[in-house]
Amino acid sequence: MKIVILSRNKSLYSTQRLIEAGENRGHEMLLLDHMKTVLVIEQGRPHIFFNGKEVTDVNAVIPRIGSSATFYGSAVVRQFEMMKIFTAVESQALVRSRDKLRSLQILARAGIGIPKTAFASSPKEKDIDNVIESIGGAPCIIKLLEGTQGIGVILADNHKAAKSVIEAFMKIKANMLVQEFIKEAGGADIRVFIVDGQIVGAMKRQAKDGEFRSNLHRGGSASVIQLSPEERATAIKAVKKLGLGIAGVDLLQSKRGPLVMEVNSSPGLEGIEGATGIDIAGKIIEYVERNEFNKPGE
Ligand SMILES: Nc1ncnc2c1ncn2[C@@H]1O[C@H](COP(=O)(O)OP(=O)(O)O)[C@@H](O)[C@H]1O
Ligand SMILES: [Mg+2]
Repeated sequence: MKIVILSRNKSLYSTQRLIEAGENRGHEMLLLDHMKTVLVIEQGRPHIFFNGKEVTDVNAVIPRIGSSATFYGSAVVRQFEMMKIFTAVESQALVRSRDKLRSLQILARAGIGIPKTAFASSPKEKDIDNVIESIGGAPCIIKLLEGTQGIGVILADNHKAAKSVIEAFMKIKANMLVQEFIKEAGGADIRVFIVDGQIVGAMKRQAKDGEFRSNLHRGGSASVIQLSPEERATAIKAVKKLGLGIAGVDLLQSKRGPLVMEVNSSPGLEGIEGATGIDIAGKIIEYVERNEFNKPGE
C-alpha cells in the first residue's frame, strides 16, 4: 500500500514511528506537509500537488494535523476524501473535535460525564459573576479555547481572581471557557488511546509537585494504568460520538465518575508508547490496512 502521512515535521517522534511501522509492514510511506500541498478543485477530478508533482496512487492517509493548521489541514484531508481515499481520521470529525465548545456540547448531549462548563462571548459584569457561580464558584478553571500543552489553562483560587482573568481575556477578545475545578483528580488525568473504536493503550499522567496541569510538556510524568470498566466505556463512547478513527481521550477521575476533559484527534505517540511499551504506531497501520477498501462514498 501507499500510505500518506500528513505532518508538518518529519523529525517528530509520532511521524517517525508511523513511517517506521508502515515500512516494517512493507508499505510505501509518503510524508506530505499539508501546508505545502496545492489543492486543485475541478469538476469530477479533484487532485493534489506537492513540490510541483501530482500526488497519485495513494491508498490511505493518516492525518497528523496540529491545531494551528486545522483549517487548511482539514481541507487537505477532505480533498483526499473527494478522491475516494481512506483517511484514518475524517475531515469532519477532525474539525468537530478541534472545537472544544462544540465537542463538549456533543458529549454532554450524549450523556457523557464532563466537568461543568460555562461559556459567554461578551458578558456584562453581572454575567461574569453568574458564569463563575453557575459552575459552582471558585476555585475554578479558565481555559483559552485555542490553548494546547497546558498553556492557556488557569486555576483561579477565588472569585476575584477568576473575574480578573475572565475580564483580561475578554479585553483581548480571546475565546475561553470557565470550568468546574476537579480538585479530587489530584493533578492527574488519564489518557486513553483509541484506534478504530478499540482501546490500544492507557496511561495516567501526574503533574509535578505544585502544579495542577498533568501535561507532559509541563513536567508531568506518565505511568501505565488499569482502566475501570466505567472509564473504558466513557472513553469509547466519547470517541464514537465524535466519529474519530484515532483519538486520545483525556479523563479526570472525579467523585461522580470519569469526566471527559478533551478528545484529541492527533494524539502524540511518544508518551503513550513510552509509558506502556505498546506498538501504538503499528496498531494505527493495522487499522489502515483493514480499512483501505472502506473508502468514502462507496
Ligand atoms: N476542570 C479541570 N479540573 C482539574 N484539572 C484540570 C481541569 N481542566 C484541566 N485540568 C488540568 O490541566 C491540564 C491541561 O488542561 P487541558 O484542558 O487538557 O488543556 P490542553 O489542551 O492545553 O492540554 C489537564 O491535563 C489537567 O491536568
Ligand atoms: Mg490536554
